[in-house]
Amino acid sequence: MILGHAHPAVIDGITETAQKGVSFGAPCELEIDLAQMVIDMVPSIDVVRFVSSGSEATMSALRLARGFTGRDKFIKFDGGYHGHADGFLVKAGSGAATFGEPDSAGVPNDYAKLTLTAPFQDMDEVKRLFAANKGEIACIIVEPVPGNTGVMDLHSTGFLQQLRDICTEEGALLIFDEVMCGFRVSSGGAQQLFGITPDLTCLGKIIGGGLPVGAYGGREDIMRKISPDGPVYQAGTLSGNPLAMRAGLETLSRLQDEALYADLEVKSKRLFEGLLAGCKEAGVAATGNRFGSMFTIFFTDLEKVTCCSDVSGHCDLPFFGKFFNGMLDEGVYLAPSQYEAAFVSAAHTDEDIDNTIAAASRVLAKLTCMMMNLLASIKFNEAGLVPAIAQDAKSGRVLMMAWMNEEAVLETFNTGFAHYYSRSRQKQWKKGESSGHVQKVLDMYLDCDGDTILLKIEQTGAACHTNRESCFYREKRGDKWVEFEQPII
Ligand SMILES: Cc1ncc(COP(=O)(O)O)c(C=O)c1O
Repeated sequence: MILGHAHPAVIDGITETAQKGVSFGAPCELEIDLAQMVIDMVPSIDVVRFVSSGSEATMSALRLARGFTGRDKFIKFDGGYHGHADGFLVKAGSGAATFGEPDSAGVPNDYAKLTLTAPFQDMDEVKRLFAANKGEIACIIVEPVPGNTGVMDLHSTGFLQQLRDICTEEGALLIFDEVMCGFRVSSGGAQQLFGITPDLTCLGKIIGGGLPVGAYGGREDIMRKISPDGPVYQAGTLSGNPLAMRAGLETLSRLQDEALYADLEVKSKRLFEGLLAGCKEAGVAATGNRFGSMFTIFFTDLEKVTCCSDVSGHCDLPFFGKFFNGMLDEGVYLAPSQYEAAFVSAAHTDEDIDNTIAAASRVLAKLTCMMMNLLASIKFNEAGLVPAIAQDAKSGRVLMMAWMNEEAVLETFNTGFAHYYSRSRQKQWKKGESSGHVQKVLDMYLDCDGDTILLKIEQTGAACHTNRESCFYREKRGDKWVEFEQPII
């Protein structure tokens, strides 16, 4: 909702239109007006067809690409979400990734085989797929600003341009799925922002001002293949209905004002940077990606998140859950998954932005403070190299093991991430770089609600891990590893 909820012009517009009839099952004048507006705003669209959802737009665009090229296979990217049509539910992002079902049940294998996938940024794999399926690939579909794995940057790496080039070379179509980023990252979408021209574009969300609308459009010679001009069939009883068209018109006409995007940019930058600063202040490792009013903060030690496996393999998903719930308690409703994007709307005020940053700082401080208290309760074993154990008083579960008497490393059982903390003898615990004999700690994780936390130390010549019942300390003596076991009390 780029204009915010219940924008008066949208509500008045649909109320007035509703008096004249809500659906005719035939084209109406408002549809033509909105079509012209979309053509004027989105650089690559010569002809546009309205449907009733983003899923319908992508599904129809894929059918058109297949019909136009006479080829069946297509490429999508791991974590890319293009709605719920069968062929797209292969390594899908968004809710499918969040709930661990990127390859949905119910999609016939024979159909899924036509979906080829590659990781974002992996041009070698895209080239390999084209070589291995010569003359069989109809199109590449990509979110030019991916938002369904969290926001990613495919532009500054040159990846999008490379996709454009290879599609042209191979006679395949390039489809930009701008259902999320269209009219969001600029008035002409990502293609305008980046200056890259796709063959087909899918639109949704903003285009309907909150009512069910989707659209696909592009080069005239391709679009003329759609029935009744051409042989590719697609139709919809409610497509282009007057209510949805009016809501779209009221919304898009307000997006012609570039000042609106300038204002969104300022507010979004302040919110994004404020949240990252809050993480830094609280000692929580985080990074992020942002395009205009669309961004994601990732809880990770990685400097940059560039592809889906960075999120699934390196982001602290349980911590995101705690942060999300903490923010909800503060009255701030964020997108409920690390695999999602946050959006700032024109209705958000400077005060909203300040309050959100302040709320995030309180939540982060609370989460990290709980951790510090936990660390302070550890009893250290005088014997030095033997790990000590702390238990959660409430659940009795093992919370952590401490290494030596100055250092500790934590690892959650469910994510496999470890957080390393250190303290000098009398001082406070602080999260830090590895020091002393602990030479390498790959990842850090903190968990404050009594979930099982396990220790794993990776160091040159020694390592320690636990299986909840025992702690194992391994030390390299000469050429041999010697393992010690200590039962958890
Ligand atoms: C990039 C993208 N494409 C397609 C869709 C599907 O749109 P809809 O939910 O309207 O069917 C979504 C929905 O989130 C999306 O983000």
